[in-house]
Amino acid sequence: MTFPLDRPRRLRSTAAMRRMTAEYRLDPSELVLPAFIREGLTEPNPISSMPGVVQHTTDSLLRASAEAVELGLGGIMLFGIPAERDAHGSAGTDPDGVLNKAIAAVRSEVGDDLVIMSDVCLDEFTDHGHCGVLADDGSVDNDATLEIYAQMAVTQAEAGAHLLGPSGMMDGQVGVIRQALDAAGHHDVGQIAYAAKYSSAFYGPFREAVDSQLKGDRRTYQMHSANRREALREVELDLSEGADMVMVKPAMSYLDILADVAAVSPVPVAAYQISGEYAMIEAAAANGWIDRMAAIEESVLGIKRAGANIILTYWAAEVAQLLRARR
Ligand code: PBG
Repeated sequence: MTFPLDRPRRLRSTAAMRRMTAEYRLDPSELVLPAFIREGLTEPNPISSMPGVVQHTTDSLLRASAEAVELGLGGIMLFGIPAERDAHGSAGTDPDGVLNKAIAAVRSEVGDDLVIMSDVCLDEFTDHGHCGVLADDGSVDNDATLEIYAQMAVTQAEAGAHLLGPSGMMDGQVGVIRQALDAAGHHDVGQIAYAAKYSSAFYGPFREAVDSQLKGDRRTYQMHSANRREALREVELDLSEGADMVMVKPAMSYLDILADVAAVSPVPVAAYQISGEYAMIEAAAANGWIDRMAAIEESVLGIKRAGANIILTYWAAEVAQLLRARR
């Protein structure tokens, strides 16, 4: 042994010492709760692959929004599931469509006390389940989709969203949405851009959550999981098009990407802990294989440590409750 022996264990010796020397700590204000509303429901509908998460009715969504305010969460990210779908996803641009009505209802419930975000994407609204409209050859038509995103964005802004989340990975989506919002006078409505969104097997439970009609995959528009450098290109493009924040998604299998983006981004960086990440921990915990709450906290803290300023997680309310209980 060499003396004096270096003893990092001193700083781990008591709970108070560990608490004081923690380099990162979670706060409810950086957490965003993703929430689903389904048209025509009379009762909240459990999502079997996401135990504890439901498809909301308007009433239950408003209760969840009020609870989010009460817990001090940063925001809520809304996804809508329409009763009727078609090839163009018309329910997404209809001011009376399920998502647009939900945005308006949540806005009148919580006002500006919570950041209300909404998904700008066609996959929940199309009968083929793709994030855009299809060309004659069956491919996803980038530029035709952009026109619809622009309309969706203005409709969502008019309904009362504070921040729009374009998640379809069409080239140019952030710029087209920015132009459309500005032209309609919505200068203050921003975008949390899904900049580096990867094609992922971990979206599986979300497909049940939104009753997705997709056959096949999204590999021609979402990023290849092998690519790291390309994430920075996507971030740069979204910033040049006017993104107010950028997001990396999924989170846990992409912490290197998150750290890369956090190192260079001049705007806040978000990460989305997605449905499959939620399902894995819930399933392991339900089997008694891991300590549920400890695993949840560790996973969210890991995402923060990697560089996220904002974390979308289905556990947002529960983590906020845990933080409160600890005070
Ligand atoms: C697309 C969208 C998806 C998710 C969020 N927005 C699904 C997809 O790209 O297939 C996934 C979120 C999750 O898995 O929790 N509108």
